[in-house]
Amino acid sequence: MSTIYDRGAPGRRAVALPPLTKTEQEILGAIPAGLRRREGPRLPEVSQPDLVRHYTALSRKNYGVDTGFYPLGSCTMKHNPKLHEDLARHPGFADLHPLLPVEECQGALALLWEMGECLKGIAGMPGITLQPAAGAHGELTGMLLLKRWLEDRGELGVRTKILLPDSAHGTNPASAAMAGFSVVSLPSDQRGMVDVEALKRALGPDVAGIMLTVPNTLGIFEEDILTVTELVHDAGGLCYFDGANLNAYLGRARPGDMGADVFHINLHKTFSTPHGGGGPGAGPVTVSASLLPYLPVPDIVREGARFKLVWDRPKSIGRVHPYYGNVLVIVRALAYILTLGDEGLREASAGAVLAANYLKAKLKGAYRLPYDRLAKHEFVLSGEGVGEGVRTFDIAKRLMDYGFHPPTIYFPLIVREALMIEPTETEPKEVLDAFAEAMLRIAAEAREHPELLREAPHATPVRRLDEARAVREPRLRLDLGCVG
Ligand SMILES: Cc1ncc(COP(=O)(O)O)c(C=O)c1O
Repeated sequence: MSTIYDRGAPGRRAVALPPLTKTEQEILGAIPAGLRRREGPRLPEVSQPDLVRHYTALSRKNYGVDTGFYPLGSCTMKHNPKLHEDLARHPGFADLHPLLPVEECQGALALLWEMGECLKGIAGMPGITLQPAAGAHGELTGMLLLKRWLEDRGELGVRTKILLPDSAHGTNPASAAMAGFSVVSLPSDQRGMVDVEALKRALGPDVAGIMLTVPNTLGIFEEDILTVTELVHDAGGLCYFDGANLNAYLGRARPGDMGADVFHINLHKTFSTPHGGGGPGAGPVTVSASLLPYLPVPDIVREGARFKLVWDRPKSIGRVHPYYGNVLVIVRALAYILTLGDEGLREASAGAVLAANYLKAKLKGAYRLPYDRLAKHEFVLSGEGVGEGVRTFDIAKRLMDYGFHPPTIYFPLIVREALMIEPTETEPKEVLDAFAEAMLRIAAEAREHPELLREAPHATPVRRLDEARAVREPRLRLDLGCVG
């Protein structure tokens, strides 16, 4: 594909700019000669049709949840209702300045407060901060809360370990380590759940807590969760729940009832915000009573019909984000919650679980299913042994020829040649059937024509890329055409 610089010819223009006004000329005239360009910037010179065709062609090469099925495990790539985009763009929210005095942004504070109440209800926990900008940021915030709690109890240098099941999301150990804890890995048992005997052996006076991904990255709910949290509490630690997979039990089960002390929620996954390209997210954190004093400031407090910001929290860990977090993500998420209501949220999680189990049932005869249990929102297959010399990587590439975005691959690490599939509740049955059909055909191809997979993709604009080379040998260019 050519770049915009390869198109056009000298002198072509896509827009005609109006002549400079007198004031603009005066402003430009005031710029000292030494600071002015000697030549014009080297911008592409293209006509409007050229410009439109170039960017339209580029946009059509993009794949997103608005163009097709996107079963990326651990990502909840579900449809984001367009109404929520309109609401987030509403000037009453989008144009708010974060430094407005509280009297002038009562509506926004009311919205944030209400969101906090909704999420506390969903989590079954008494405290919240909306500040964290992503799931991993929520995890770090949670770990910092835990540290402050330890400090308050005089146990900071004593309880230094965080226990982490090997089925946890990859950001969990990173967050614990970043907060200064050392990470101890806990093995999963044959069911794909925390090995309770191994947990008992690992617990001791040096353990600060456990971080559980709920459901875990195999898409399995920890059936012993009450035993696990009780054991950790009895040993003097706290329980962190990674709630990025909340789509699996939204409106059905509450972490607060299961013994969670800290719980983060990925609004950009569960509550509809376009994500996946690194766009803004939100990872609010709810806490149990024991961690309330340490929550970030400012706290949004309601007094009658008014809202105020409270900074006077001497034990707070301080701010974790400028201002109040990514407010427009919160606007979208609240719109999602209010549109669906309690019943709708329950239906969403039921649909997510149903879709995952439906696909699992269709595919488990053709691909190895290492942990064959009731799936929650996702399940993990293995591409191992599907065809002579065929790897999961090849299956993923071949799926692109069938017009599908590949699932997450090679994660979780405890499944060899993993394919982690999360269909979400927003896909109709015919899409799930078409995906299953493609996967079954690919499994047949793997047996009969493995080379077809090993050389895939065949139908994409670019064929097989060396995916690691871009990182090892970056060729970056920032060409602003500045020659002045
Ligand atoms: C289970 C789990 N935990 C944590 C995260 C991290 O969230 P974020 O990407 O918003 O930092 C993810 C991301 O997909 C996840 O799936």
